[in-house]
Amino acid sequence: MDHQKVQIFDTTLRDGEQVPGCRLNTSQKVIIAQRLDEMGVDIIEAGFPISSPGDFESVKAIAKIINNASVCALTRAVKEDIEVAAKALKYAKKPRIHTGIGTSDSHIKYKFNATQSEIIERAAEAIFFAKTFVDDIEFYAEDAGRTDNEFLAKVCSEAVKAGATVLNIPDTTGYCLPDEYGAKIKYLKENVIGIDNVILSCHCHNDLGLATANSIAGVINGVRQIECTINGIGERAGNTSLEEVVMILRQHPNLGFDTNINSRLLYDTSRLVSESMGMIVQPNKAIVGANAFAHSSGIHQDGMIKNRSTYEIIDPNEVGVTESAIVLTARSGRAALAYRAKKIGYELTKLQLDIVYLEFLKLADKKKIVLDNDVHQIVKWSNIEILA
Ligand code: KIV
Ligand code: ZN
Repeated sequence: MDHQKVQIFDTTLRDGEQVPGCRLNTSQKVIIAQRLDEMGVDIIEAGFPISSPGDFESVKAIAKIINNASVCALTRAVKEDIEVAAKALKYAKKPRIHTGIGTSDSHIKYKFNATQSEIIERAAEAIFFAKTFVDDIEFYAEDAGRTDNEFLAKVCSEAVKAGATVLNIPDTTGYCLPDEYGAKIKYLKENVIGIDNVILSCHCHNDLGLATANSIAGVINGVRQIECTINGIGERAGNTSLEEVVMILRQHPNLGFDTNINSRLLYDTSRLVSESMGMIVQPNKAIVGANAFAHSSGIHQDGMIKNRSTYEIIDPNEVGVTESAIVLTARSGRAALAYRAKKIGYELTKLQLDIVYLEFLKLADKKKIVLDNDVHQIVKWSNIEILA
């Protein structure tokens, strides 16, 4: 089956870096951008150049060194933003300007105190202006998730007419349900004039924990670019997580899509971003969390020891994790203890295992995790002749 390519637009360095207290300096951003490029990200959103001199310098430095990915800079639909972004992108091999405006009733009324036709006018003007600097223009309809579909299609049609190459449909507030977001994309596919000449992009926030599900619903209905961040970091509850969408498309080949991402770099990249930002990855985070491939209950451990496929749908090597972990706790059974003991050199008979297991349970009730050193001690206490 031929898989259609879905482009990965990484916004770790822009939306991701908006996390309070996680600011990166230029050299940290350059290192992360190089890793994203090596990993196969198609577009790197490097920053919002008008926002600060530091961000301008970071976008400029990234634009200079990135060879494969497009480098993108964010702007509002404001001429000065666009001029500054174009300047920051001057040395990029593949520059993209990402400009746009709020389109929901709430944004139009409270942010802009404008009318729908004024919003369309401002959007088209910004795209025309950006087009005088670079060819590749992505238009975002901010709060598209809560924008009336008919009006959204109108704005998008005008954006295409003005020269946009990519249409970004952000669920800015993370409000949509997957069916609803998928239906929105389908509606745009069917109603935006010129849609076949541009790429539709999803940019989903995670306020209700639905960012990944919404992005996949988007792909199923016509999106061919996913905007996401490493570890799902970003404003408030974060953005769609890059590692999740990449692995969902790979684990479900029947959907018919794939990305250019080298998934074996996912774990290391997750750690690089986490350490650079000083932001821990929750242990139960899908794909890259410390416990994503750790098994601690007796029933699961027994299954895993018999065959990995019983409790794992992804080979940990595929995402750069060396091996699954069998963690010894008070919920572990004899199979896990025997397996661990064997790994550190003890071949236990059934009788010996019964004796050692009783000692193990006593310790495991006192300690959260029983480590290899503890197993050595337990074998010693058990006072039995063991082949070591
Ligand atoms: O969430 C959002 O709407 C954004 C846009 C600026 C693309 O980040
Ligand atoms: Zn966003």
